[in-house]
Amino acid sequence: MRLDKLLSVTATATRKETARAVRAGEITVNGVTVKRADLSVDPERDTVSFRGRTVLYKQYRYILLNKPDGYVSATEDGRDPTVLELLPPELAAQGLFPCGRLDKHTLGLMLLTNNGTLAHRLLAPRRHVAKRYRFCAKFPLTDEECARFRAGLVLEDGYETKPADIVLDDARSGVITLVEGKYHQIKRMLEALHNQITYLERISFGPLTLPDDLARGAWRELTPEEEQALLAAAE
Ligand code: URA
Repeated sequence: MRLDKLLSVTATATRKETARAVRAGEITVNGVTVKRADLSVDPERDTVSFRGRTVLYKQYRYILLNKPDGYVSATEDGRDPTVLELLPPELAAQGLFPCGRLDKHTLGLMLLTNNGTLAHRLLAPRRHVAKRYRFCAKFPLTDEECARFRAGLVLEDGYETKPADIVLDDARSGVITLVEGKYHQIKRMLEALHNQITYLERISFGPLTLPDDLARGAWRELTPEEEQALLAAAE
């Protein structure tokens, strides 16, 4: 990989800054001062240092985002803003995509990554990765309706959902746990009970939970512990 590309994808420096730093002798590769920004480097093996700091290269990125209302879970959309637009452009340009979808008006935990194999595994139906959602419904839910929810419901297209857990805080709100991810699943499960979702927020995805201190619209990289737990969940 070219040195200037490496510094750009690691958000260390733009190409212009790299050119300037090369001229000023501020970049070394394996201890040797670099003379060209287009030098070929091996990010896995070479030690690149920019203004005295070692540049850490990660092939895969794992971003935890607190999705706000109105954003779509896509990399591009002609009409609505996408979750990718909440990230700095140099990070978004690293091939990140949402791992699973949330509806435009659903809030909360969203994982973005450029690790296609991991995303594919986490989303594979047979893996049954659990997702928890805080919800509010328009009408009160009865015990009998909750029992139907837990047993699995038949949706309007004839699909029979897997059993899903529901724990109420009061008659109209609580936490739902799904182990599958069909299109508009919770919305359609509530509709099968002649009810409607008025609020939906994902609070966990597999081993990841939405941090209390991550503001709506904010993001951060997974911690090494979270990353390990996620990789383990996909094994
Ligand atoms: N179920 C829904 O209906 N919408 C979501 O965004 C997620 C699950």
